[in-house]
Amino acid sequence: MKFLLGVLITLGSMGYVYADPESDREAFVKFYAERFANVDMQDHKDGAYALDKAKRAQWLEMEEFPPYELAVDEGRALFSVPFSNGESYASCFDHQGIGVKQQFPKFDMASNSVITLELAVNQCREANNEPVLDYLGDEMGYITAYMAFTSRGEHFDIQVPDAGLAAYEQGKQFFYERRGKLDFACSSCHMTAAGNLLRAEVLSASVGHATHWPAYRFKWEQVGGLHKRFIECNEQVGAVGLAPQSEAYRNLEYFLTYMNNGMELNGPASRK
Ligand code: HEC
Repeated sequence: MKFLLGVLITLGSMGYVYADPESDREAFVKFYAERFANVDMQDHKDGAYALDKAKRAQWLEMEEFPPYELAVDEGRALFSVPFSNGESYASCFDHQGIGVKQQFPKFDMASNSVITLELAVNQCREANNEPVLDYLGDEMGYITAYMAFTSRGEHFDIQVPDAGLAAYEQGKQFFYERRGKLDFACSSCHMTAAGNLLRAEVLSASVGHATHWPAYRFKWEQVGGLHKRFIECNEQVGAVGLAPQSEAYRNLEYFLTYMNNGMELNGPASRK
């Protein structure tokens, strides 16, 4: 812990010295390239398993019978069931919703807000007079697991138009801002201390944080989204977790995913 606190002080203002999203991203990637000189940048999409050989071996064994497979199958089936008005999810997305996950999150000019895949799924349901899904529930996990599966191998190329800059900046601020009883920012653990152990866990690099959602976690016993992970990371420093798909979390996802531009999508994934 002492180590964590010590090194972080140098990072406090880091979020505010960069000029624009693309320079932010270049500095972000460079940080990890230097810190993990012997790890291929793309490998960070596997999170902590890119950093720890023994854990990676266990994980690869687990992946032989991927625990998210059922979710993908359920999602595929649900995706094709027509809504009661005869429309379907396909009608709400480009390419009938196949292979589009890398477009999200995107900034929507009309609503002046960030639209994540989960939000788009529920907007699609609302537009077709269907009840919205629980963001932490199984069905949302299934649908997004299937959609993520169809985007495997694609790469993020998130855009930040001028109108989206404020949302991006808010997400960036959330990432670098200290909070909770421990007074830690996301960057305290996932930049400054990345690669170090926190209890028994190796801290992963944020440059691969957006690539693989939703994820089946053994701890959760379900496929859950990125915001479920945000809640947990907020709570473990003694801060209050926010509502999934709240504006603050969507903006955080926007910043984080922009930082992941160029990274390959490999969701859904499995995690301990
Ligand atoms: C006290 C340290 C700590 C802080 C602060 C923290 N996290 Fe985490 N986070 C962890 C640990 C431990 C894990 C599980 C091991 C890992 O994958 O890094 C984790 C996992 C994650 C993962 C999943 C990684 C994967 O490969 O699936 C994401 C995404 C994430 N954190 C994002 C965040 C964000 C965003 C914040 C700020 C809101 C944050 N974390 C703050 C400790 C922290």
